[in-house]
Amino acid sequence: MNWTRRGFLGRSLAGLVATIAAPRLTPAQSPSRPGARGAAVLCSRGETWGRKVNDPAWKILGGGGASLDAVIAGANIVELDPEDQSVGYGGLPNEEGVVQLDASVMSGKLKKSGAVGALERIKTPSKVARLVMERTDHVMLVGEGALRFARAHGLEEANLLTEKSRLAWLKWKENLSDKDDWLPPADGVYAEPARVTGTINVLAIDRAGDMAGCTTTSGLAWKISGRLGDSPIIGAGMYVDNEIGAAGATGRGEEVIKTCGSYAIVEAMGRGTPPEQACREALQRIVHWTRENPDFDVKYVALRRDGEAACVGLRGRKDKPPQCSIRTAAGFRVINGSYLYEIPGTAMR
Ligand code: GLY
Repeated sequence: MNWTRRGFLGRSLAGLVATIAAPRLTPAQSPSRPGARGAAVLCSRGETWGRKVNDPAWKILGGGGASLDAVIAGANIVELDPEDQSVGYGGLPNEEGVVQLDASVMSGKLKKSGAVGALERIKTPSKVARLVMERTDHVMLVGEGALRFARAHGLEEANLLTEKSRLAWLKWKENLSDKDDWLPPADGVYAEPARVTGTINVLAIDRAGDMAGCTTTSGLAWKISGRLGDSPIIGAGMYVDNEIGAAGATGRGEEVIKTCGSYAIVEAMGRGTPPEQACREALQRIVHWTRENPDFDVKYVALRRDGEAACVGLRGRKDKPPQCSIRTAAGFRVINGSYLYEIPGTAMR
């Protein structure tokens, strides 16, 4: 195919016009009418973490509580657990060995959102993001300002770098180059530590039909200090529209930001596209912007307001599909998602 720049721009413009012109279904026309399946909480992880996150969230939703309280309660579980090295306390640090956390929250009921980026020394960035949403006239605070804001609200400070994460960082640092002065121990044989972008999304609808979402992460391991991924960017790492549904992203944030992933999914659902197809189309856009069969991963999860859920990854294996989990009045269920490209059993970047 001969992709001239003029031709590409023409096609892009045509696509954009078609998208804008595509009618957005009214809530009454939508196949996803509220409350069709009652309250639900979706977590972007499978069995183990899914249960840990969905249980406290469901306790709130099942008792008639608010979706916003539920998603924060679920996110806090992973943020406070030092065993998870991709979110909150115990997350892998940046290239300087400093843990910097990103998080966003969004309330469909309030039509408001809040976010923090590169936040240090606070274990629960989702709580600070909620405070930004509810107690400021801003949407996002970052770095030192975000920390001062958290302090002003009395959040406890802590060293977020656990011994396990410090040692992982030191291994990376000492094996980075043979042109610097950091040397691995003479008797130590280091396996190259994986460079992860973990992250967790929690999306919920409550009995009143109100939706909320939260995404929280320590971001890309060994990142440049101050790097923000997609998680704190509203519309990229997470998006909620009370009349349609919610979506969230995990994986390589840079590609999600460039393609406004979560917003694109929610808008597609608003035009009547089923959640799984909406996630696939958002991933196809990343492929279009990068390359076929990319060597990084992105996973999208979506929860339509009638409770229909989906989970689709760029990459996966038949024996290890992308997963998410959902808790409703009917119980807890792991969803084995679909993916665009089959990969051999290698670690993902
Ligand atoms: N998706 C998490 C990040 O890229 O930081």
